[in-house]
Amino acid sequence: MERVNKILTNSLYQSYLEKNNQAEAQRSFCRHNTAHFFDVARIALILNEQECYGQAQEIIYAAALLHDIGRWMQYEDGTPHEKAGSMLAPEILKSCGFTKEESERIVKAIDSHRREEVKEEKNLSGLLYRADKLSRACFACKMEKECDWKNKKKNLKLIL
Ligand SMILES: [Fe+2]
Ligand SMILES: [Fe+2]
Repeated sequence: MERVNKILTNSLYQSYLEKNNQAEAQRSFCRHNTAHFFDVARIALILNEQECYGQAQEIIYAAALLHDIGRWMQYEDGTPHEKAGSMLAPEILKSCGFTKEESERIVKAIDSHRREEVKEEKNLSGLLYRADKLSRACFACKMEKECDWKNKKKNLKLIL
């Protein structure tokens, strides 16, 4: 987990996280913060075990920690945050010791984490998509009725 710990203390990672936190300080809907990143990581780890995705723990953590790191840019200039994250993540991954091949797989998963088409894929992209959606506790959310997620995407019952 050495490389994951490097991400957590990386100055760029921390600055993007702070930008997310500032942009969402007044947000009543789901936030894109550390708690969300860890929820996604841990759900992905469970799915990885239960359904034999065969993904390494460090790769799962890296994808989960970085997948929404560009959310602040979406608020600033409208760049879709999966595109922003795909642009911002490689530099962090490189400086934390991830190889080019690992970085490309992680970035691909970040880029597709809002595309339902990857949901069934038995790879890192499919795993990140599912864990990200499962992480939202719609069944216990006061804003559920006002949320623009389609009903079939909402977690109206606890599944995992
Ligand atoms: Fe996202
Ligand atoms: Fe997310």
